[in-house]
Amino acid sequence: SQAEKAGYPHFMLKEIEEQPRALAETLNPRVKDGEINFDEIGIDDAMLAGIKKITVIACGTAYHASYVGKYIIERFARVPVEVEIASEFRYKNPIINQDNFVIVVSQSGETADTIAALREAKSKGASVLAIANVVGSTIAREADKVLYTRAGLEIAVASTKAYTTQLMALYMFALKLAYAKGGITQDEYHAYVAELQKVPENAEKVIQNKELLQKFAYEHFTEHSVFYIGRGLDYAMAMEGSLKLKEISYIHSEAYAGGELKHGTIALVEEGTLVVAVLTQGDLIEKALSNVKEVTSRGAVVMVVTQEKYKDLVKDVADKIVTIPDAIDFEATITSIIPMQIFAYYMSVQKGCDVDKPRNLAKSVTVE
Ligand code: G6P
Repeated sequence: SQAEKAGYPHFMLKEIEEQPRALAETLNPRVKDGEINFDEIGIDDAMLAGIKKITVIACGTAYHASYVGKYIIERFARVPVEVEIASEFRYKNPIINQDNFVIVVSQSGETADTIAALREAKSKGASVLAIANVVGSTIAREADKVLYTRAGLEIAVASTKAYTTQLMALYMFALKLAYAKGGITQDEYHAYVAELQKVPENAEKVIQNKELLQKFAYEHFTEHSVFYIGRGLDYAMAMEGSLKLKEISYIHSEAYAGGELKHGTIALVEEGTLVVAVLTQGDLIEKALSNVKEVTSRGAVVMVVTQEKYKDLVKDVADKIVTIPDAIDFEATITSIIPMQIFAYYMSVQKGCDVDKPRNLAKSVTVE
């Protein structure tokens, strides 16, 4: 009802704007003396130190969150991580045993394929941590441990605050694991946790770009095809940005790892094609910029998502720029999705689509 939307035209916009609070509620109660505390979940450093390999399993938006988890866990904890689509995992007779630590990620905790994958992993002896939003859901009940995201009720079919809180949960897990494994020093650990605590206020600042993104959407809502590109963590964000757009605006969209463009997708770029380039990671920015030049030289119109500090570096290739506040690069990732959520939202509004209930999609897919 209108009352539940608290004055917002759609649940999606309301939920986008709830992200600062949701992120703070997911993080703050689990920070103690500058470190991540998982006592409530029953996970301690000794247990984490014993983890040899990790498999993260999910569907949809949660699958994209899992990709971010892979990049940050491998980078800081140096534990190998496989990411699996639940519907693929369940039927491939997965090579999994008690040496695997499995993480299932699910907003609803009721996705049929993810439940089946969780059962498959458990039956093969793996211990399973659920990152779930709905308290007492099937996945939360059946997993060995649960790290709840505290996004609150999410009603719009296109996930926003559940996704960013899944990222937050994965960052918390990755940093705690990295420290337990000796991958980061205590000083680094404290600095990274302090930086995570700034994410909610940074998210708030990004939301203030709403009008700029509404204007961009107004200029682009008639597109037939939009490409999202990025490298490393930015590629994971490109995947989710692209999904948001196609889900609610019905515009064909693909995400590509920047370096892979030349092996296919670039054939589709023509004069005027919109490309959203996610350029938030300094270590890859030069490489990513050369990918952007590959598309601009074919006539693409480029909208760049970057950090404030990289604005000057990217301005020559960008037709449009939206910035997020400066952060330690790998932690800028969480806020970088918000402009893409808002852009997709206004694209859908401009096209007159049913933003909160897009055709053919369900909030939770509880049958196979
Ligand atoms: C559906 C929803 C998506 C969601 C996916 C997985 O497809 O429309 O937004 O990401 O299911 O849902 P879960 O509840 O397991 O995160």
